[in-house]
Amino acid sequence: MADGVGQDDRISLIQSDIWIGFPRAEQVLDRLQSLIEAPRQTRMPGLLVHGASGIGKTMIARNLSRRYAPEYDPMAGVTHTPLLLLQAPPAPDERRFYLHILAAVGAPATAIAVRSQNVASLEVRVIALLRDLGLRMIMIDEVHNLLAGTHREQRRFLNVLRYLSNELEVSLVCFGVSEAVDAIRGDVQLARRLDEHHLPNWRDDSEFSNMIQTLIAAMPLEKKSNLKVKSLRQILALTGGITSRVFSLVKDLAIDAIRSGEECITDDAVANWSPLWSRYAPVQRRLEQAGV
Ligand SMILES: Nc1ncnc2c1ncn2[C@@H]1O[C@H](COP(=O)(O)OP(=O)(O)OP(=O)(O)O)[C@@H](O)[C@H]1O
Ligand SMILES: [Mg+2]
Repeated sequence: MADGVGQDDRISLIQSDIWIGFPRAEQVLDRLQSLIEAPRQTRMPGLLVHGASGIGKTMIARNLSRRYAPEYDPMAGVTHTPLLLLQAPPAPDERRFYLHILAAVGAPATAIAVRSQNVASLEVRVIALLRDLGLRMIMIDEVHNLLAGTHREQRRFLNVLRYLSNELEVSLVCFGVSEAVDAIRGDVQLARRLDEHHLPNWRDDSEFSNMIQTLIAAMPLEKKSNLKVKSLRQILALTGGITSRVFSLVKDLAIDAIRSGEECITDDAVANWSPLWSRYAPVQRRLEQAGV
């Protein structure tokens, strides 16, 4: 498989954040795709995708936004932007959010004239600009940032999200950690429009073993790895079922397998693996004992 591809190239490939499709992530993408393709209506349905930090929410959001990248239509002389991916501001601040939208669509939001506008005129400007883009979906990542505000600020911010989605007749999709769910339910009308999609931590089941197999198969190794069930359970225990940790464990082992010439991930390698933070713990202890 890796014929003609050098060790370094293979290691760089492993270290890059390329998308690896597994059914659970594809399911969310399918749901989002049917929302974005759905015919326009006044109350567009949306989705709230929630799960632990590192479960893979942003990767899904980015993947969809690549599939629906802006396209220039030379005949009409306009750029169609079906999907806008935004990050919620660090706290629920409408002004910052509107300025952020202007920057995201390439409007000169840094101009002093714009910066000094009040919230109401920023709102008008944002709606006018977004209307011209041919938007079908707005995705807001890190929606849990909402929790950094007071109850009142949270309500105001949710109101803005609902308003944007209604005015533009676009589907609203929010991504965040599960702690944000209750806050979003705080806006009853919005909650009614947002279906929930929970991404739970991985468990000891066939879904997890299939995901690990897909992941290992995506590693540019020359030999097939045949891990025992015991190793899969160990991976689960070491990572707490969090996707980002599972990925970094498997990627670490794949890099070790390339460097050592083993060219596959073995049960022994899993048994001897320790997370980066604990790998340096003995060194750290020695340093502390030496008063460093
Ligand atoms: N489908 C995937 N393909 C490749 N890598 C993935 C995938 N899903 C998750 N990962 C890995 O897990 C890491 C964390 O994923 P991501 O940033 O999407 O998590 P998150 O749920 O958005 O976390 P947070 O709530 O902290 O923002 C990614 O940087 C990537 O290394
Ligand atoms: Mg994220």
